[in-house]
Formats: sequence, C-alpha cells, structure tokens
Amino acid sequence: MAAGWHLAALYFGSDTIMAKDNTAKPEASSIWGGRFSGGPAEAMQRINASIGFDCRLYGQDIAGSLAHADMLCAQGIISAEDGAAIAAGLKDILAEIEAGNFEFKAELEDIHMNIEARLGELIGDAAGRLHTARSRNDQVATDFRLWVRDALDDLDGALRNMQAALIERAESHAASIMPGFTHLQTAQPVTLGHHLLAYVEMFGRDRSRLADCRARMNEMPLGSGALAGASFPIDRDATAKALGFDKPTANSLDAVSDRDFALEYLAAAAILGVHLSRLAEEFVLWSSEAFGFVSLSDAFTTGSSMLPQKRNPDGAELVRAKSGRLIGALGGLLIVMKGLPLAYSKDMQEDKEPVFETADTLALCIAAMTGMIGDAAFDTGAMERAAALAETGAVDIADWLVREHDLPFRSAHHVAGQLVRLAEEKGCGLADLSLADLQNIEPLLTAEAQKVLDIHYAVSVRSSYGGTAPDRVKAACADARVRFLGG
Ligand code: ARG
Repeated sequence: MAAGWHLAALYFGSDTIMAKDNTAKPEASSIWGGRFSGGPAEAMQRINASIGFDCRLYGQDIAGSLAHADMLCAQGIISAEDGAAIAAGLKDILAEIEAGNFEFKAELEDIHMNIEARLGELIGDAAGRLHTARSRNDQVATDFRLWVRDALDDLDGALRNMQAALIERAESHAASIMPGFTHLQTAQPVTLGHHLLAYVEMFGRDRSRLADCRARMNEMPLGSGALAGASFPIDRDATAKALGFDKPTANSLDAVSDRDFALEYLAAAAILGVHLSRLAEEFVLWSSEAFGFVSLSDAFTTGSSMLPQKRNPDGAELVRAKSGRLIGALGGLLIVMKGLPLAYSKDMQEDKEPVFETADTLALCIAAMTGMIGDAAFDTGAMERAAALAETGAVDIADWLVREHDLPFRSAHHVAGQLVRLAEEKGCGLADLSLADLQNIEPLLTAEAQKVLDIHYAVSVRSSYGGTAPDRVKAACADARVRFLGG
C-alpha cells in the first residue's frame, strides 16, 4: 500500500485501502493479539475497518489524546517523561497526517488504533501508557462529539452568510411587487423582499436548532471507560475543560452508548435540507418560462446539449434533490440506534458516514444556494404584471367596506364576489369596472373604494407587524440584520 494517501482519497476510496493480497495468512492483531492466535478473515477486516472514513476524526482524536495524556500526567498516573514523549509524538503524527505522509492501515481498523500504533513506532513503550484509563468506546464518543461540534460551528457560519445574501436582496426588493400564492394560485400581492425574508426566518430557526444541539451535546464522555468508568484517579473536569466541554457526562453507560448528538444534528440538518429544497424549488419554478420571475446566472445553470434556447436550473434542482440524502441520513441512523441495548455495540460505528455525508452535502448546497441568491436577476416587471393579472383586489374591496362602513366581513365578501362575477361576465378586470357598475352592486362604494384595487395600495396597507408593506419590510430587514447578523 502506498504511503501518504490524501485523506479525501481515503474517505471516498475505501475500496483502494482494502486492495491487498487475499492469500496472505492473517496475523493476530498487535493491539489485542494476546487473546487471539489467528487474524480476521479478509471479509471481516473489510466489514470491521472504519479507517476509510473515520480518518476524518484525526484532529479530534489527537486533541483528545493530548488532553488525556496531560491529565494522566497531572494526576501522577503516568510520568512527566512519558507524558512529554506522548505529546511530542502525537504532534508529530498530526504533522505527518496534515502533510499527507501518514500511512493509514486497514488492518489497524480505525483512526484510534492507527494513531496509537504510529505513536508506538515513534516513541516506543511510552505509547502503551496513553490508553490508561481509557477505552476506544469513550474515545470515539469524545472524538465524534468534537467533530460534530466543529461541524455545527461551520454550518452556523455558512447559514449566516446565506441569510446575509437573502437580507441584502430583500433590502433592494422591499417594494418590488410579486404575486403571493396559496395552493400555487395567486392569492394576494406581496413584496419580493417579504418573500425572501420568509427564508431568512426559516434559516434562523435552523441556526437556533443547531445551537440547541450544540449546547446539549457539549458534555465529555472521556473517562467513562469501556462502559463502567475508570479505576484510576482521573480528573474528568480538567480534560473536559481542556477540550472545551462544559462538563463531563454524568453516566458512563449513557456516555459511551449515546449518539443523540449525532441524531439531533442530522434531524436539524434534515429540516434545514427541507428549507433549502423549498427555496430551490421556488428558483426552479420562477426561472421557468411560464413564470419568468428570475433569470439564474450562467454560474449556476447549464445549457442543453440539444435545445440551444435552454438554460436549466440544475444547481437548484440538485439542492432540491440532495435534501433526500439528508432526510435519508437521519432515518438511517435512527434505525441503526433503535434496537441497541446498553452500552456500546459495533453497530454504532455506522454513525459516522451519514454525519460526514450530511456535513459535506450541506456545505455544498449552502454554497450553491448562497451563490444563486446573490446572482439571481429578478424580473420585477414580470412579477408585478403577474400580480396585477389576478383579481387579488377583491378582498381589498371587502376590507374597505368593513373599515369605512362597518359592514360585517361576510356581507362585504359577498359584495366583492358579485363584483368579480360581473367583471368575469364583462370579460374585464375588477379595476376596469366603472363606478356605476360598482354602485349598482353596492351603493356604498365610491371612487375611494376603486383606489384599493391598485396592487401598490394593496401591499402598502398590509403594514401590520410581520406584514408585506414595503416600509414594514425595510424595518424587518434592519431587524433581521440585528437578530441574525449581529447588526
Ligand atoms: N471504530 C469504532 C467506532 O467507530 C471505535 C470503537 C470501537 N470499540 C470497540 N469496543 N470495538 O465505533
């Protein structure tokens, strides 16, 4: 096997790592070989090894080991000399991995044993003391929490950038009118800024879900041992502090078998994926000829090999599709976990790939959506024309009768319905009916009432908190900047 694979190649090409001589007689593991006379079958090694993907935990694994070794030293459990050798060796390994000079070995199963074995090569016997008062069960639970915590922080930053892009577009389109839909039927005019801010709220809730997840997961499993705790005088508070955890976990059985943090991350990611998909779907619809509301940039569309006129919204379509993976990842891990007795079972090794895939998928989808949002050329003329086409003013006539003449809304609604029917009979729009037409149906109607049929009027009066009026949207943008971007 060639030394120094790139980590990405390892992760995506776990087949390569297994390309080995199948006729070689397997040897007992050097890690637990004491109990074993023979080695694993080739298929066993392949099903068992996680190094093809958990190599991504190398930074967290080394950080955890450094903190653990420090604590063992401080507690007098290992000598200062061994502690120093371990720390120096771990730092060398980190440098080797980052330089692409580390040989990951499938026969060493996972990242924990690959690093420990290399430490033995580098510093000799002292390496064997690192695993005092520790099991791979509390080690992997700690590493994985650290990884998910980093992923949560990265994701928050990416979502913030996407919100910034949306808010910026919303500010410039606070007064641009478009049709608002229910059932995908034109219902009332809204402003484009208002529509874009709806997504800012969704992504804001996503960020808050991720923050909740981060706060709840920030407890450290290390020191739980295989399942029952440690028989050495360890200082779990010190290790927790060194690794940025709020505190050590309170129950060792729970700590090694809990993957709620991964499930919560995946659940929040799946909901976020649904939001991304809905926004992507709007871009697909809006960029179609039938809508013509937006033109997506060259950077986020593709052409057709046969139809020269086409500009396909592939980026948006793929964001829409990839939400399926995010939802699948959550379902997959829930199913892995649901039947497991306490405490650790190897099933839990299957926790990492869905989480890694989710993080990669989200990073890509958010980058693509942020780019699409920034680049989108909105055709505000087409949007406004589409809004004006529908008889959205009927409810404004009804509201006017309620406001000005205190009619019960149901009676006013009836009057407006009669006006819509009359316009239909005459083959014209509501706004084209004469004042005489209006007064034939309801004498209380005046020229003032006709003004409410203007869609600009319709949006401007919807100035209630959370409403679509341009002034309200401008204020909402400023408020969103404070709430989500910190001013
Ligand atoms: N690679 C393993 C995992 O990801 C590490 C823990 C192994 N523990 C064990 N008892 N075999 O779950």
